Amino acid sequence: MSQDPNTTTPKPSVKDGPVLRDHVFDGIQEFDQKLPNWWLFTFYIAIVFFVGYWVVYYSTDSMQTPTQNIDAKMAAIEGKKKQELVAMMDKLDDTVLLEWSTNQSITDEGKAVYEQYCIACHSPGLNGGVIGRSLIDEHWEYGGKPMDLFHLVLNGSPSDAKGFNGQKMQAWKDVLGPEKSAKVVAYVASKAPHVDKTK
Ligand code: HEC
Repeated sequence: MSQDPNTTTPKPSVKDGPVLRDHVFDGIQEFDQKLPNWWLFTFYIAIVFFVGYWVVYYSTDSMQTPTQNIDAKMAAIEGKKKQELVAMMDKLDDTVLLEWSTNQSITDEGKAVYEQYCIACHSPGLNGGVIGRSLIDEHWEYGGKPMDLFHLVLNGSPSDAKGFNGQKMQAWKDVLGPEKSAKVVAYVASKAPHVDKTK
């Protein structure tokens, strides 16, 4: 039996308890009342927050994705490395490197670097091997001053170099940085009799 809307009793108010709609679907009735204000309030706040967040996220740089964050940090580290290099290059010269080559604690550090990174190609006695050149003979392919060795270690063989038996040396700048490169050169200079010590 269907109801005539005009004959139903006036709608009860919310104050009297939950208000239900008249129609019934499969035995289920729906609430028919205003949402409480506290609920609406959080809902509107959420909408306003979304709009603000969306604008800030997409139109300013103030919020970064994790990838951007990592990229920015990497760039900062790269920048720092470059600064370190510039500062090091400023104070480093043949005199400093020759002084370092007579400073036992520095040559010890350089020796540790040599043993980790250089020994395989230049051999424990620095006399070269199958791949690397001898560092104790009289011949220096790219100059025999300490700074010549430092630049070679830092930057590797020049791009137009023929190499040694066709083998070039890689740049060690990114692996060692300027400080370890300088210390390993100080160690080499302490061992190699033919490093040019004239000032
Ligand atoms: C993978 C093998 C290899 C490693 C490792 C290596 N070198 Fe070399 N190095 C070479 C080769 C090859 C040459 C010759 C490059 C050329 O003639 O262009 C060379 C040349 C040099 C020279 C110039 C020698 C000369 O007679 O002119 C110096 C100095 C040197 N290396 C120092 C180092 C130091 C210091 C390290 C460690 C940080 C190192 N090398 C690690 C292969 C290596």
